[in-house]
Amino acid sequence: MLDEVNRLIEAAGADIGSAADSRQLEELRVRYLGRKSQLRALMSRIGTLPPEERPAAGAATGKAQQVIQTALEERQAALEQESESRGMDVTLPGRRRGCGKRHLLTSLSWELVDIFRGMGFDVASGPEVEDEYHNFDALNTPPDHPARDLQDTFYLRDGMLLRTQTSTVQIRVMAHTAPPVRVVAPGRCYRKESVDATHHFAFHQLEGLYVDRGVSLADLKGTIQMMGRQLLGEQTRVRFRPHFFPFTEPSVEYDFSCSLCQGPDPSCRVCKGTGWIEVAGAGMVDPAVFEAVGYDPEVYTGFAFGMGLERVAMIRYGIDDIRLFLDNDLRFNRQF
Ligand code: DAH
Repeated sequence: MLDEVNRLIEAAGADIGSAADSRQLEELRVRYLGRKSQLRALMSRIGTLPPEERPAAGAATGKAQQVIQTALEERQAALEQESESRGMDVTLPGRRRGCGKRHLLTSLSWELVDIFRGMGFDVASGPEVEDEYHNFDALNTPPDHPARDLQDTFYLRDGMLLRTQTSTVQIRVMAHTAPPVRVVAPGRCYRKESVDATHHFAFHQLEGLYVDRGVSLADLKGTIQMMGRQLLGEQTRVRFRPHFFPFTEPSVEYDFSCSLCQGPDPSCRVCKGTGWIEVAGAGMVDPAVFEAVGYDPEVYTGFAFGMGLERVAMIRYGIDDIRLFLDNDLRFNRQF
């Protein structure tokens, strides 16, 4: 019987070693280990052997079963590895991993912050959920002022609101810093606007504030001029137009010369033929604001400005719809 077992092991080994796929391997498992296999037949004959031969025969058949089982498993593993390496084309380019990047508005605001850092400004920030004091009262905007109309402001509970402007940060900075101060504050603002190509209920501003002894409107103009040149090119000119803001006196709106046509060109789509692009508001800080934060308006003067980041981006890249900034359409976002 031991010879028979040995021959069986040899035959099984040879067959399994040349099995070409796992289907053949399964047939061999049935043939060599299944219920009707020769091995089973040998095992059931053990009981008929003389008692002294039984232990050796039992051990040999048990061993054979193990050996064949192991051979099957090893062949299976080898076949799998073979098919894997045959199925892989090592000349194909690797899979590209998507890599996130900054949103256009984030990079623009970092760029502006860099420009102002170069002029000695610090960066400040404040909360988007604000109170009426910081958003209005301290900015010389009394309760009956039209800017406080329910139409414009998202009011929350308990006198809180979503800030409508980053000018709130002026107040927060001055309230805890002694002059001189020089800060810019980029951030998100909210207004109850119906959304169209040029209005959105959520948008971004960059606020600037410079307070010291003897700060003048000329300093404001020089600062804005410097920003315009760095942002849109050396040839950029600035002009001021009189305006009104509750928190500045005098107040201006400032325009940059058109970065596309460089002068009145009736067909220019960026400046609409005027040669100028309206950028933002600015002015000399109103003495009432200084009083609200405890600065002495007899000693200190300062300028402030605030501009819409979407507006600046639209000018610079010729974007014609403000909704694109928040749509999160990757085809838009990837362009910048
Ligand atoms: N906060 C103003 C707005 O949202 C912009 C502005 C104008 C900010 C004049 C200023 C400023 O600091 O001095 O329209």
